[in-house]
Amino acid sequence: MSWLFATIYDPFMRGAEEACLAQWRTDLLAHAEGDVLEVGAGTGANLPLYPSGIRSLQLTEPDADMLTRLRRRMRVAPMRQVQAREAAVDALPFEEASFDTVVSTLVLCSVPDVSRALAEVRRVLRPGGRLLFLEHVAAEDRPARLVWQRRLEPIWTRISGNCHLTRRTGELIRQAGFAVEQETRESVRKALPIVRPSIRGVARREA
Ligand SMILES: C[S@@+](CC[C@H](N)C(=O)[O-])C[C@H]1O[C@@H](n2cnc3c(N)ncnc32)[C@H](O)[C@@H]1O
Repeated sequence: MSWLFATIYDPFMRGAEEACLAQWRTDLLAHAEGDVLEVGAGTGANLPLYPSGIRSLQLTEPDADMLTRLRRRMRVAPMRQVQAREAAVDALPFEEASFDTVVSTLVLCSVPDVSRALAEVRRVLRPGGRLLFLEHVAAEDRPARLVWQRRLEPIWTRISGNCHLTRRTGELIRQAGFAVEQETRESVRKALPIVRPSIRGVARREA
């Protein structure tokens, strides 16, 4: 299943990337600065979009098949000071306060425990460091769609790498000790209706 998911991920996402996600990623990553960690980097969709001024870039990804594709993309678009490691966000192999920026795009839907993941992100961020997030979430303002998200979630998690449909990730980011400085809610165009509701923005680690 992991191999299949990694293989179809880029073609499956192409429509939404072209319709909006690539632009949202570019706008979000413009906020990256200093030493940057990306969690759940997948096939490396963000890799070509980082600003040239960042000091270093660490990519982490727990899935071996995704990591193979990520490393392939790193060879095609080589950057100085970029490394990839096999690691889950739940237990990051870095000292506390190692990074100025952590990037999470379309990852917190899939982790086993969002609060634990965010506690790890907070731990490795320097005080005042920022989390840049782009995540699909529960359809809080569309009750009919939320019903379908709830109905389909048990099967969806099994066929899409543990991706959950009904997470209230914005609330969880705030509860984890971040001050959300920017947040945009917008529908992901050319995506399946159940994964259209999304949030993206910048959250600062509170001291
Ligand atoms: C939908 S893909 C998103 C990939 C990439 N971040 C992007 O924006 O295209 C979800 C990614 O989260 C990764 N993932 C799943 N569980 C994870 C965990 N516990 N820690 C870190 N990454 C995880 C998956 O392996 C996969 O690469």
